Amino acid sequence: MHELLKHDLETLPELLAQTRATALQSLQGLDSQPVAVQPQTPQAELQRAAGGGAEAALRLFEQRWLPRLSASAGPRYLGFVTGGATPASLMGDWLTSALDQNPTAGWDSEAPELERQTVRELGSWFGLSEAHEGAFVSGATMSNFVGLALAREWLGEQRGVRVSEAGAAALGPVTFFSGAAHSSIHKALSMLGLGRNAVQAVATLPGRDAIDPQALELALQAQAGAPVIVVANAGTVNSGDFDALPALLALRARYPFWLHVDAAFGAFAALDERVAAQVQGLDGADSVCIDCHKWLNVPYDSALQFSRHRDLQLRVFQNSAAYLGEIGERPDFVHLTPENSRRWRALPAWFAVQAYGRAGQAEIVRRNIDCARLLGELLQQDLTPGPDGGPAFELLAPVRLNIVCFAVAGCTDAASVQRFLERLRDSGEAFLTPTCFRGRWAVRAAFSNWRSEASDVRRVHAALLALLSQA
Ligand SMILES: Cc1ncc(COP(=O)(O)O)c(C=O)c1O
Repeated sequence: MHELLKHDLETLPELLAQTRATALQSLQGLDSQPVAVQPQTPQAELQRAAGGGAEAALRLFEQRWLPRLSASAGPRYLGFVTGGATPASLMGDWLTSALDQNPTAGWDSEAPELERQTVRELGSWFGLSEAHEGAFVSGATMSNFVGLALAREWLGEQRGVRVSEAGAAALGPVTFFSGAAHSSIHKALSMLGLGRNAVQAVATLPGRDAIDPQALELALQAQAGAPVIVVANAGTVNSGDFDALPALLALRARYPFWLHVDAAFGAFAALDERVAAQVQGLDGADSVCIDCHKWLNVPYDSALQFSRHRDLQLRVFQNSAAYLGEIGERPDFVHLTPENSRRWRALPAWFAVQAYGRAGQAEIVRRNIDCARLLGELLQQDLTPGPDGGPAFELLAPVRLNIVCFAVAGCTDAASVQRFLERLRDSGEAFLTPTCFRGRWAVRAAFSNWRSEASDVRRVHAALLALLSQA
């Protein structure tokens, strides 16, 4: 064994203790460190300490990289849709790395069984019946990819083509209808060989991101009975809006289509009775995407994909080889998702489920929704005039879930919104991201961190106001 490896093995307890201390210091400093930093122009790295062993690598990391990271695990990082890592999920994640299981094949350990049980338990939280089977994937993009790959196989079946054997080209043109599809849907279609242009936008309800069911019906009628794929949203990224799933299911009873629901974070509405009705009907979908590294607050990377069509899933993702054995009644994960070998990402989620249960998760969801509502109220009540004398902030959509989408006075184009958000970032107080909502440039704040409290909302609001007064 190389002498550095030998040394690290002998000093493993100290090395892990030092790593733990670094992690702890970071976590305990989340509230006092800048929420985000401006990345510097990359410079050539010195080869300092290369080959210096694990302790030297840790010290180099602490000096060079650690101070240049964001507090994305903290309560005032409201960009994108970003979760943190609860204590239990962090413990699970550390053990995932330490134990280094590869849960894809099922005859060397019970690791896959823990994964199956975790998937089932989480499915039940979101009202998914046992008809839905699922697996862990790396994120919502990959979950959407899997759902749409199954939809593609289904469409092939309707047309007498086995896409998994004959290839996407054999399928011919494909139509996907969606109201406000997330960008990952387009990316998935590009990866699936169906093309980004396959998405046909269907009109949304006035002032909303939710699909207009009447417009969808007209689009379906125009297909004259030809099967298509509908991608519905449960929680849109801009405004947290929901398509009316019961209305879509009623349409599916009359027109042939596969219903995929992107419920990356919106599925968690099921845990708060005040908003749960919005996600009613999820179980009726053919495939469902739910992220875990967002609202479940497990570390990256983790998401779930569910589907009622395991037969199609096996056709698409089976990885037959003599050394893997028969697929059998309970297919191993190697036959169900794009990855073959992968990390045991179910363990952090299992820890979260065991440690806090549905009730603990429901408290996080409820508190985050309360935070979003509070920020919405504060912005609306604000009497501070903007540069043109009008209101400083304008809510562009009601706060339906955990997202606040608002315009800032004087920031009317992409560049000015970006400048405003960079100034906010440089204040160290908060990190928010831009969007264009129904033709207007705006700012989004998404609450999905388990630590966020009303006091954080007030701090973010004060930081926003301070920026306007400095304008
Ligand atoms: C609705 C929705 N779908 C899909 C995604 C993609 O998620 P990921 O970055 O985990 O792949 C996001 C990310 O914000 C999202 O909000």
